[in-house]
Amino acid sequence: MAPMTLHPDSIAVHAGREDLADLGVHALPLDLSSTNPLPDLELGGMSYEVLATGGHPFEGGSNVYARLWNPTVARFEEALARLEHAEEAVAFSSGMAAMTAVLLGVTHESGTRHIVAVRPLYGGTDHLLASGLLGVETTFCSPADVAAAVRDDTALVVLETPANPTLELVDVRAVVAAAGSVPVLVDNTFATPVLQQPLDLGAALSLHSATKYLGGHGDVVGGVVACDAKLAAALRRTRAITGAIMHPLAAYLLHRGLATLPVRVRAQQEGARVVAEWLTTRPEVSRVHFPGFAACDPYGLVGRQQAGPGAMIAIELAGGFEAAAALTGAVQLFTHAVSLGSVDSLIQHPAALTHRPVASDAKPSDALVRLSIGLEDPQDLIADLAQALSTTAAREAAAAAAAVRG
Ligand SMILES: Cc1ncc(COP(=O)(O)O)c(C=O)c1O
Repeated sequence: MAPMTLHPDSIAVHAGREDLADLGVHALPLDLSSTNPLPDLELGGMSYEVLATGGHPFEGGSNVYARLWNPTVARFEEALARLEHAEEAVAFSSGMAAMTAVLLGVTHESGTRHIVAVRPLYGGTDHLLASGLLGVETTFCSPADVAAAVRDDTALVVLETPANPTLELVDVRAVVAAAGSVPVLVDNTFATPVLQQPLDLGAALSLHSATKYLGGHGDVVGGVVACDAKLAAALRRTRAITGAIMHPLAAYLLHRGLATLPVRVRAQQEGARVVAEWLTTRPEVSRVHFPGFAACDPYGLVGRQQAGPGAMIAIELAGGFEAAAALTGAVQLFTHAVSLGSVDSLIQHPAALTHRPVASDAKPSDALVRLSIGLEDPQDLIADLAQALSTTAAREAAAAAAAVRG
């Protein structure tokens, strides 16, 4: 029988599970082995050689050691690759471990160490690139300046869209054209493969902090990169040498979570639109960043590049840092915490937290607060924000009156 052609929602439920019925099981098998029996020394040695250089296990060989290969991780990788329209995917212990492996692997392959990075980026990524810790030299630029920033020795162009934390949308095709023969990495964490497939837009690599929407429940840390088979082999080799493979339990939870990813992202996105629209009516809020608003999408990328606006919102408070800090302290239903993409709503202040290490000239405004909208009823989220904004405004008014009284 010919295999069925499935729609994305069905792929999310079934990918990486095709052999389960033959195995006589219904749930994903979880293999926690740290080491694996070797058939004999010759086959064991051959397996080691193949896996440590980025290859796949072969019939009659062994998985040897869990830093080299784990079947539960491989299943999750296969499923994620399908959703990203990629040949393969490689999973890591965190999003930053994934980014580190890409930088090490790509610069080793090209023999050059220059990176072009389009700001804004997640603060940790910005910090990693700016720190020089991995021996790379980074030119930060805006999307329009990529062509000018690319040099003969540029190994990679890095971008995020929507970008953390201001949700700026970057035209991936335009950056790919400007990068010429240099591979482009898109951090697809905010959009997820439900809304955007960067490889279809010409990117060479699509990276996720799997900790966010892919996990979706705030209980897994992980990273994953989708790409072609050649880059995947380079990433697995880097992973085997440096040791940042994803833990199988994380892969199990992530793979289980993929089944509900499309439903979660669409529902969270609907809630975010309601909350974002309400925020535009509030006098305490001077600016609402939400990709669903025409003003935030000057190139018309929503609908063309990404299928929807996503579920992240950033707001600027008219009362500046004090109002932003007060808001994060006054919410009750939102959790004041970093991270995003969970089924529950989170609020955080990027300049003080996730983007703290970013150079001052590239740091987000300290009046800016980032909201990750979860699966709660949006009216409850609005009620929470309304009470928190009123409390904050009342406190500000009292402080102003006290100042006038002297
Ligand atoms: C867009 C983006 N990329 C990468 C990362 C890093 O991922 P992790 O925290 O899983 O290392 C984050 C974390 O917040 C992120 O928001």
